[in-house]
Amino acid sequence: MNGARILLVVSGGIAAYKAAALASTLVQKGAIVDVILTADAERFIAPLTFAALTARPVYCSLWDAPERIPHIRLVREAELAIVVPATANILAKLRTGIADDLATTALLAARIPILLAPAMNAAMYENATTSENIAALQARGYEIVEPESGFLAEREHGVGRLASEERLLEAIQNVRARRRSLVGKRVLVTAGPSQEPFDPVRFIGNASTGATGIALADEAARRGANVTLLLGPTLLPPPHGVRTERFATAQELLELALRESRECDLTIAAAAVADWRPSEISAEKRKKSDETLHVDLERTPDVLAAIVAAGGSRCVVGFAAETNDHELHARDKMERKKLDAIVLNDVSGGAGFGLQENRLLLLLRSGERVDLGRANKRALAGRLLDALEPLLKGNP
Ligand SMILES: Cc1cc2nc3c(=O)[nH]c(=O)nc-3n(C[C@H](O)[C@H](O)[C@H](O)COP(=O)(O)O)c2cc1C
Repeated sequence: MNGARILLVVSGGIAAYKAAALASTLVQKGAIVDVILTADAERFIAPLTFAALTARPVYCSLWDAPERIPHIRLVREAELAIVVPATANILAKLRTGIADDLATTALLAARIPILLAPAMNAAMYENATTSENIAALQARGYEIVEPESGFLAEREHGVGRLASEERLLEAIQNVRARRRSLVGKRVLVTAGPSQEPFDPVRFIGNASTGATGIALADEAARRGANVTLLLGPTLLPPPHGVRTERFATAQELLELALRESRECDLTIAAAAVADWRPSEISAEKRKKSDETLHVDLERTPDVLAAIVAAGGSRCVVGFAAETNDHELHARDKMERKKLDAIVLNDVSGGAGFGLQENRLLLLLRSGERVDLGRANKRALAGRLLDALEPLLKGNP
């Protein structure tokens, strides 16, 4: 932790006193810790305690030294922020974007990883609103350090006790390690559907939203990679800090992918590219008639095979969305296209497309099989990169 810049946000829960012990441990390990207290946290513990432990000023109000714009400065100077304890209230505010004090305004302005350590009464924690807030925040990239089960302040047992200091430190270490794990690597991600027009207003497309690829690009950028995202037609916004090029058709994607995969360490092809396109595109909108419309379809270019053949990317990972005989088809696709790995996405019954939750299985060329489990797309992106990073080791 030597020299680590950590922003510790303390909200108003009974476990606020444990944040002081955490601040002390972080300082002893060599970290530089800035502390923000919410107004209600000050009811539980004095700013003075943190000032003494960190040997730094403690921040409690947006209005103390506004000329230094503390909410922006504090998150720019830190490499990560951790909220200990995170009250039900601050979780709800973070989910909805309420920024009515220094803590919530700073966290809203943060582009650094944010860890949240919820701690509260079991009924508050199990309340559907809190559960939904936590799930939504996790899906957006916040790291949740789950509370534990044990003795609560209300003199009853239940889930809601702040994670142990050991687990908090481990979570901080993991985020710091991940932050640097792809520094110096170039990563290309393709995402979203393609649209193959047959007249100026109609096209053949599919239900992909690009959410998986967007989460992967975001996660790779958070780990320090130089990321390019090739994004098809979707309403989802591309992630911050990722160079994004848009495509509509498979042909456009092919041209971009060949250019952008040059000198890449890793290409992840998550785009759901149409396999067929209309052979002819009418220059004018086809008139509606009662007759059956026949449209001839031809194969679109095989983007993945072209990326591999061009040889610009050291490691190429494909996606297989299968509805039956999943593993067999996915392995076959990996062999045929000479991929380093393939991610199997079971889309039977419409699962996978657009939904925030997904289930993924990673098959490696070595024969290894990594079940990434069922989780939201953000968490799966992290697990997938964890599993792919060893493939990049030893590459020049
Ligand atoms: C004695 C006491 C203990 C509390 N403990 C917790 C707690 O552990 N977790 C929690 O979410 N809220 C707890 N609350 C409620 C919060 O203090 C309250 O929701 C407050 O508005 C939180 O403000 P903040 O999120 O801005 O810090 C407690 C309240 C009291 C009076």
